[in-house]
Amino acid sequence: MATFNLLLLPGDGIGPEVMNEVKRVAFWFNETGVVSFNIDEDLVGGCAYDEYGEPITDAAMQRATAADAVMLGAVGGPKWDGVPYDKRPEAGLLRLRRDLGLFANLRPAICYPALADSSSLKREVVEGLDIMIVRELTGGAYFGEPKEVVTLEDGQQRAVDTQVYTSSEIERIARVAFDLARKRRNLVHSAEKRNVMRTGVLWNEVVTRVHQDSYSDVELTHILADNCAMQLVRWPKQFDVIVTDNLFGDMLSDEAAMLTGSLGMLPSASLGEAQASGRKRAMYEPVHGSAPDIAGKGIANPIAMLASFAMALRYSFDLAEEADMLERAITSVLDQGLRTGDIMQEGMSRVGTDEMGKAIVAALEAQAG
Ligand code: NAD
Ligand code: IPM
Ligand code: MN
Repeated sequence: MATFNLLLLPGDGIGPEVMNEVKRVAFWFNETGVVSFNIDEDLVGGCAYDEYGEPITDAAMQRATAADAVMLGAVGGPKWDGVPYDKRPEAGLLRLRRDLGLFANLRPAICYPALADSSSLKREVVEGLDIMIVRELTGGAYFGEPKEVVTLEDGQQRAVDTQVYTSSEIERIARVAFDLARKRRNLVHSAEKRNVMRTGVLWNEVVTRVHQDSYSDVELTHILADNCAMQLVRWPKQFDVIVTDNLFGDMLSDEAAMLTGSLGMLPSASLGEAQASGRKRAMYEPVHGSAPDIAGKGIANPIAMLASFAMALRYSFDLAEEADMLERAITSVLDQGLRTGDIMQEGMSRVGTDEMGKAIVAALEAQAG
């Protein structure tokens, strides 16, 4: 039986609430005897700062490096608004991404048929939607240097973030996008701002070259990122794979999340280069944050977190069948009319986080016979 080491970093706010449902599902898989997850847990974000004065410790980083996959809940919240910038909860997440080399962030936005009326857009605009946003995750304005605030001679303050990309960073994310497109509808949109940014020009040139050299069978369209944002709400079904930089990808993926009905539905996978062992470092997390407004109430939607676990089954553990099962279980509870508050519709049954998780396990159980 295959054994995998899973590190859970539940984090802050609703993070631990939705991570409980991952434990429930992982324990269920352990009981089936098909696979065995060794589950380890550690702190990240505000809770780690409270305990250790750091948003993630070196020891937790070592465990994350050694794990077969990391599951992250969410970090942050108003409680830590006043902590020093480099110790803020989000810095823990950014260190994980950077130090594990997780450059490729896959953010699928799928509109489940049962939720086509939960979106703020019309049913016909979102029904059947299946987009994959490929966000570059370890470069751009998030990590470029200098990144600082300086006080000028006249007493003003000047803040600098640096948008920087090398051609190799662009090339490797472009390859991820083209490879994914080949397994989907063979269409890539590359979004940048070549009209105002030097990084946009380079992005455009490198993506064009990679396309010509290795992927001319895939249809490539270049699109300005602001137009892409508009087109996503105008007619999202024109897209298959969207490849874009770190900052544009952050915004476009929140926007895409709402096409699916709720931020509580959108999973993500963050993948690194293949190691000598053949294994890729990987972290899986929902796109949403710690949702301070609903934390502690037991009402958060665990589907984004559980769909992230399905991505872990697929991408890190090569358990495609189990991933399909979990995704079918999610579809099935939605078809049964179960809804957390964020996706609530008239005539449906409102459930809390753990009821939703239990129903998903029951739907797994039903498939296992
Ligand atoms: P958020 O995603 O936490 O919440 C935005 C809105 O969506 C809120 O109204 C929230 O209640 C709702 N929502 C989010 N997830 C939900 C779920 N699973 N079920 C039901 N409703 C859900 O974004 P925010 O409020 O801008 O940020 C709050 C904190 O989270 C900030 O500190 C931010 O930095 C952090 N954050 C962390 C991550 C992460 O850890 N990956 C991602 C985004 C934001
Ligand atoms: C996300 C989040 C993070 C980001 C924050 C919390 C650092 O918004 O994962 O989308 O901006 O990347
Ligand atoms: Mn974001």
